[in-house]
Amino acid sequence: MDGKPLRLIAAADAELGIGLGGHLPWHLPNEFNWFVSRITAVSEPGKKNMLIWGRYSAVNPSQPLPNCYRVCLSRTLRCVPPGADHVCRDFASAIQLASLPPLSDTIEIVWVLGGTHVYQEALKHPNCEQIYLTNIMACFNCDTFFPEFDQKIFRLLDEFPGIPGEILEENGIKYKFQVFQKVSRRQI
Ligand SMILES: NC(=O)c1ccc[n+]([C@@H]2O[C@H](COP(=O)([O-])OP(=O)(O)OC[C@H]3O[C@@H](n4cnc5c(N)ncnc54)[C@H](OP(=O)(O)O)[C@@H]3O)[C@@H](O)[C@H]2O)c1
Repeated sequence: MDGKPLRLIAAADAELGIGLGGHLPWHLPNEFNWFVSRITAVSEPGKKNMLIWGRYSAVNPSQPLPNCYRVCLSRTLRCVPPGADHVCRDFASAIQLASLPPLSDTIEIVWVLGGTHVYQEALKHPNCEQIYLTNIMACFNCDTFFPEFDQKIFRLLDEFPGIPGEILEENGIKYKFQVFQKVSRRQI
């Protein structure tokens, strides 16, 4: 494969809702900590993951994100916003950054953090290998949604190393971690 492996990560409710008014519709600190633990995990010291997000999906700038190179997508920003290391004008340029010096030797995984259109572009990318999608088992009022995707192409794994398989509960909300793996054309 040319380029770095690309993964999407999100938490979505029963109707694939992910956001309301620019914020997460729920308060699930343990689920958020799990998200942070995934995107910051690297195989050895010195390695980094690239995080790509659209301008309204920024992680709080005060949130420590070790081992990460953070790219914000925007066509309008004139300077790098707090909490980011770089701004890119389009998705392809951000992906390309990860495969070119000086970052190419360092970056292990490209994690796409949303929002809707950034996820859509990532799903179409040939390097897209996995979707980490927490299933929030409830319906919230949402104005932003995770895109529909073909579950014949991205198959839900029964189990995945390091992913708790059981239903969890926080603040009275049940949820379950899920990983969808892209299958090769021969398996479809
Ligand atoms: N539950 C979850 O896991 C999750 C994950 C992510 C986000 N969210 C929620 O989703 C909402 C935000 O998502 P959103 O879809 O509304 O917006 P978004 O994708 O975060 O931001 C949209 C903006 O990002 C820039 N952008 C997006 N794609 C681009 C591209 N290909 N090239 C250049 N710039 C690009 C544009 O900025 P300019 O206008 O500056 O050009 C665009 O207006 C929030 O409510 C957030 O909390 C939830």
